Amino acid sequence: MTTKTLLDMVNVTAGYGQTPVLFDVNMSVNQGEIVCLLGRNGVGKTTLLRSIIGLNPLTKGSISFDETDISKVPTFKRARKGIAYIPQGREIIPYLSVLDNLKMGFSASGKKGNRIPSEIFDFFPMLKEHLNRQGGLLSGGQQQQLAIARGVMCNPKIMLLDEPTEGIQPSIVQEIEETLKRINQEKGITIIVVEQKIEFARKLAQKFFIMEKGAIVQKGTTEQLTDDLLHRYLAV
Ligand SMILES: Nc1ncnc2c1ncn2[C@@H]1O[C@H](COP(=O)(O)OP(=O)(O)O)[C@@H](O)[C@H]1O
Ligand SMILES: [Mg+2]
Repeated sequence: MTTKTLLDMVNVTAGYGQTPVLFDVNMSVNQGEIVCLLGRNGVGKTTLLRSIIGLNPLTKGSISFDETDISKVPTFKRARKGIAYIPQGREIIPYLSVLDNLKMGFSASGKKGNRIPSEIFDFFPMLKEHLNRQGGLLSGGQQQQLAIARGVMCNPKIMLLDEPTEGIQPSIVQEIEETLKRINQEKGITIIVVEQKIEFARKLAQKFFIMEKGAIVQKGTTEQLTDDLLHRYLAV
């Protein structure tokens, strides 16, 4: 089996306006992997995901995705190339039905379509029962599942998830973990997940990256994610 680099960030420097947040970030992710991105509050995890989808322009460095330099490609085109971004805080449209929220996945991917593929309900059976409900009436965990499902609707090559388990009850956290594993294995979708729940990240991911002050300072396989590292870089 050959491993292929799907995403390669080289010396990525980016921020908000004149304020740099990421400094020479180097991060490489192979096709088919699940990696977690860890680090204390404010170190730049969200900004890193935003730079991959093109919401924070680079002031230095480059990002290549699927063997193409996407450093200057606009966000909507990155989505069409196969990058799905599921931001923190389940950004679904609360007044639209679950069905209409799902259909937004079609427009993001630039593909036409009207029928929700049955695999979506296979991954998320709950959504089928609530298709005509307003998204905003779902529980927090259900809204998160809807947001992930909408990402899968785009048939992405990679999904970027920002703290998908934040504020979600444990039984649904477990469900989300199992569903993400299935999506990875059955659809071959590569996943980068920013996570605060270490046990969730450990069980889900094969590799980890730890950030501090806008840079990647540690990386390895999740077996190498020792308590010492967690204590050094994650304990408050
Ligand atoms: N919209 C913004 N404008 C200016 N600075 C921001 C903005 N969002 C985040 N920052 C700053 O960028 C740094 C990294 O934030 P962020 O990427 O959200 O970190 P994390 O996700 O690891 O908590 C923080 O210092 C934060 O204050
Ligand atoms: Mg964040």
